[in-house]
Amino acid sequence: MIAEPWVEKYKPQKIRDLIGNNRSIAKITKWLQEWPKTITRNRRALMLYGPSGVGKTIAVYIIARELGFEISEINASVKRSKKRMSELLRTSTMTQTLTSKRGRLVLVDELAGLSGKSDRGAASALNYHIKNTRVPIILVTNDVSDSKISPLKKICTLIEFEPFKPSEVTTILKRICKKEKLTFDEPGLELLATYSRGDIRAAINDLQSIARTGANISKKTILELVRSRDHTIDIREVLDHIFYAENWNKAVYAANQSGVYPDELLRWISNNVPIVFTDINQQVKAFDLLSKASIFASRISRTQNWRLLPYSKELMCITGSIADGTPTPDRSNYQFPEWIRQMGFSRGIRQKRIAIGQIISPIVRMSAKKAYKEYLIVLKAFLKNPHTKPTVTAELKLTEDLIQFILKD
Ligand SMILES: Nc1ncnc2c1ncn2[C@@H]1O[C@H](COP(=O)(O)OP(=O)(O)O)[C@@H](O)[C@H]1O
Ligand SMILES: [Mg+2]
Repeated sequence: MIAEPWVEKYKPQKIRDLIGNNRSIAKITKWLQEWPKTITRNRRALMLYGPSGVGKTIAVYIIARELGFEISEINASVKRSKKRMSELLRTSTMTQTLTSKRGRLVLVDELAGLSGKSDRGAASALNYHIKNTRVPIILVTNDVSDSKISPLKKICTLIEFEPFKPSEVTTILKRICKKEKLTFDEPGLELLATYSRGDIRAAINDLQSIARTGANISKKTILELVRSRDHTIDIREVLDHIFYAENWNKAVYAANQSGVYPDELLRWISNNVPIVFTDINQQVKAFDLLSKASIFASRISRTQNWRLLPYSKELMCITGSIADGTPTPDRSNYQFPEWIRQMGFSRGIRQKRIAIGQIISPIVRMSAKKAYKEYLIVLKAFLKNPHTKPTVTAELKLTEDLIQFILKD
């Protein structure tokens, strides 16, 4: 079961819920309220800019809804031909909707995603449609200095979104902590706010990651999170050395040098194979090898036969030559395996194990620690079986949270 992301669950709903960037919010509201009077010959659309996670997209949605506009969103980062982009813009800017009070508003989000030659065409299509639109257009971008959009800047009113202030981040986080009934302290929230650098999306995601492990929100757990991040910087480099190795020997060498635990490395590689190898045949080949690496890995952990380790490691080193193809040149998108994120909080995990151990310890007459270790496998089997799950859950008074933990542990 995947928990609903808190950035969704606690999205602000009303203009008055929006914290931060007050003047920008007010400007957008006024511009839309008075549209089309607000357009001039030179400034025909709005362009919101600012780093990611500062509430640009959500501000447009909330303001539009409150004023009675219906949003047609075009995400500019989706690759489209100039022709397709033009068509989309034409239908959305030239026709009206009949279902909303104030009509349509066109939102072109992720403008920085326009890239390459074909998208220059998309940018010029935008330019044309902004000059001829019948409905308000709002553009949103992370990167206002991008040269591709400089012609657009000349015909837009620019509105800046600034990173949230630490105190604003703390306010938002505290509100969520209270609603989720988390145990937290001020220094912890303040530290998290500092680390977020004003990116509220990142701050909320971090808060949720920590809460999921069952740990309290304190300076200590935040530092643990940050430390587990630092650790991942190395792993990204290791992944580079593997995926983009000149030859397979070099990849294996990099894997051995890295000192990353093999099971951890295996998860990193599996998570990222679909990102760097986009061709389905390459993926099939890669996953076939990874499944074999995984069989070796589990055999090792069962039998403690460490002589098998090199086989497992060698099988997981998926290079371009192994997968019969070149990996994508874009290496910036490595994904963090959720499992490792959670394991970073060994303390929270230990606490949960002991908590569960304490529940079963009187039944099996063992210490909590031993009980958990010995009976985890049994618990798992009971909880996986739909016939036994309800009884066991009720008898042991297990919460959904604990059940998920047991199944994953
Ligand atoms: N003013 C705000 N108050 C509370 N939460 C906010 C606010 N602005 C943004 N958020 C949270 O941050 C998330 C990301 O906002 P978003 O508008 O997508 O950022 P951006 O478009 O700037 O990257 C939202 O889903 C919401 O949970
Ligand atoms: Mg956005």
